[in-house]
Amino acid sequence: MERFYITTPIFYVNAKPHLGHAYSTIVADSVARFHRLMGEDAYFLTGTDEHGDKIVQAAEAQGKSPQEYVDTISGLFRDLWPDMNISNNDFIRTTEPRHKAVVQEILQKVYDSGDIYFGEYGGHYCFGCERFYTEKELVDGKCPDHQTVPEYIAEKNYFFKMSKYQDWLKDHINKNPDFIRPERYKNEVLSLLESGELEDLCISRPKSRLTWGIELPFDNDYVTYVWFDALINYITALEYPEGKKFEEYWPKANHLVAKDILKPHAIFWPTMLKAAGIEPYQHLNVHGYWLVEDTKMSKSIGNVVEPLAMKDKYGLDAFRYFLLRDMVFGQDSSFSEKALIGRLNAELANDLGNLFNRTLSMTHKYFGGVIPRPDVEDIVDAEIKKIGQDAMKAFQDNYSEMKFSRALEGLWELVRGLNKYIDETAPWTLFKNEETGRLQTVIYVLLENMRKIAVHLWPVMPEASEKMLDQLGMGFDQEKVNLPKELDVWGLLESSETVAKTSNLFPRVDLPEVKEEPKKPKKEKAKKQAKQEKKADAGDGTIEFEDFLKVDMRVGTVKEVEKHPDADRLLLVRVDTGDDEIRQVVAGIADFFAPDDLVGKQVVVVCNLKPRKLRKQLSQGMILAVKSGDELQLLTPTSEVEPGSKVS
Ligand code: MSP
Repeated sequence: MERFYITTPIFYVNAKPHLGHAYSTIVADSVARFHRLMGEDAYFLTGTDEHGDKIVQAAEAQGKSPQEYVDTISGLFRDLWPDMNISNNDFIRTTEPRHKAVVQEILQKVYDSGDIYFGEYGGHYCFGCERFYTEKELVDGKCPDHQTVPEYIAEKNYFFKMSKYQDWLKDHINKNPDFIRPERYKNEVLSLLESGELEDLCISRPKSRLTWGIELPFDNDYVTYVWFDALINYITALEYPEGKKFEEYWPKANHLVAKDILKPHAIFWPTMLKAAGIEPYQHLNVHGYWLVEDTKMSKSIGNVVEPLAMKDKYGLDAFRYFLLRDMVFGQDSSFSEKALIGRLNAELANDLGNLFNRTLSMTHKYFGGVIPRPDVEDIVDAEIKKIGQDAMKAFQDNYSEMKFSRALEGLWELVRGLNKYIDETAPWTLFKNEETGRLQTVIYVLLENMRKIAVHLWPVMPEASEKMLDQLGMGFDQEKVNLPKELDVWGLLESSETVAKTSNLFPRVDLPEVKEEPKKPKKEKAKKQAKQEKKADAGDGTIEFEDFLKVDMRVGTVKEVEKHPDADRLLLVRVDTGDDEIRQVVAGIADFFAPDDLVGKQVVVVCNLKPRKLRKQLSQGMILAVKSGDELQLLTPTSEVEPGSKVS
């Protein structure tokens, strides 16, 4: 059996779990479940990172001992995961004896091989980041993350010869292009490795300054730097060096982290492994940040999203679905309850929920709830089967590459296709005309496809998936499901089983803001309208800030340009705006630019204009330009930025 190993970051215990922690852990859970259904043996690890200055400070602030404090907060994480339906196989804490033993073993090994040395170091130390900054890295003398002036500390410490492995790492990344994915993060790491010599890593802290850490095995006046300690958790849990799990699951490791901790995972960790004579992990998967209303989540702003509150309000599965569907893996995303409700209503209640409700109720109406045997076939059945196969293949391929949003989008082709199939085959007419053989097939095709959708959704919404399968009269048995086989297998749903009468898994939620105004008499309405028009006429011309925020403007890189086949003044400009797909904009700029002039340029695109066809060509947005005399200039950033960067 193929083996697969997935990890989340081990979270610091200096704050309660929030949306960001929940996202990484839900993604890891869904990936573990997906691989289990792909017929693999998937091992899933999460846990907490409990050493270091930050923790000591947080404990002091609460008047607790570090141990008391870490026990409490680690408990909050451990207790949250069952509520999020997280199927981790282990939960590791860096204060456990099993971890201390492995960290000391690795330290001793690397020390004995000569890759750890003793030296003096002076640097600007940021307590928030728990690291030294070079002059060059500081912004106006401050830590770029915390905006605080770091303390200058000079002390003797132990160093890991990270620089020795710089060329090896560069080479490894080049030879394994998906070692770090998505590609933008690989490029970020490569450019860091290519921009100059890597510094050696300071891996100790003198006990005179910090005692809350793992003692160095070769010098008991020092404890281990928290990152050198924390990264090792990924192999502690596999019982390195002798454990069976280590033999089975290493190096099939997939680490999952957000972009904030790219460097320790992409540079420290592989070089540490190399120095210890251990093979590097297989993939580092890096996701973006959840923002709230485009702002970083923070306790002081008071915009921290609590996972349990979301579960209570909308149901766990709707929350899980939204996180996986809405964030394009690798990019930042803005969280809002409005967007969650939008997807819940449109995609879960409407598309998926209606498919289940309609089909189950027709099965009851026409066949007393018993799944009919397929009989008379038609070309439309083969067509929908093909849509199903393509959708499931796309789902599986995209999920394997961590493209969850695209995977779900693909699966919804089938959900929507089936709703259309109902409208086209019109089972109510078949029933009226007594075309029973045909009606049997239509209902069977629907139910069997619904079964396939339900099993594919198990990694995303385990509880709803199991309920859907119960409703289809078959239940869920993990051992029996094999997703790759689903592409070819047809007819696993037993005719003669009875299905549920109703589904109702995803009740619609009303948006508080869009509560309908009570209907006003016509006259009054007209009066109000006139008043509004008058207001607009008053010439003030302002819009609300909220209205401005609705405009999704992004920087895009022009990839391809063609002349419009039917209009001389129009160009078809294909732009990378950071989405999964290249966007085509039909722009009236052919009088000013030749297609070749534009390729490679960066432009500002309004991305959420309603798509429309201009002379039969789809236009998905607008490129911003300014006219000056006879010239037209395109708006562009002063230096190149990541495609998809928001203009605000
Ligand atoms: N303890 C280290 C990790 C050590 S791993 C060997 C650490 N802990 S942390 O508590 O700060 O967690 C950071 C991680 O939490 C991110 O990499 C990400 O997985 C998750 N997130 C925290 N906030 C986030 C968002 N706003 N959005 C998405 N995920 C983020 O760093």
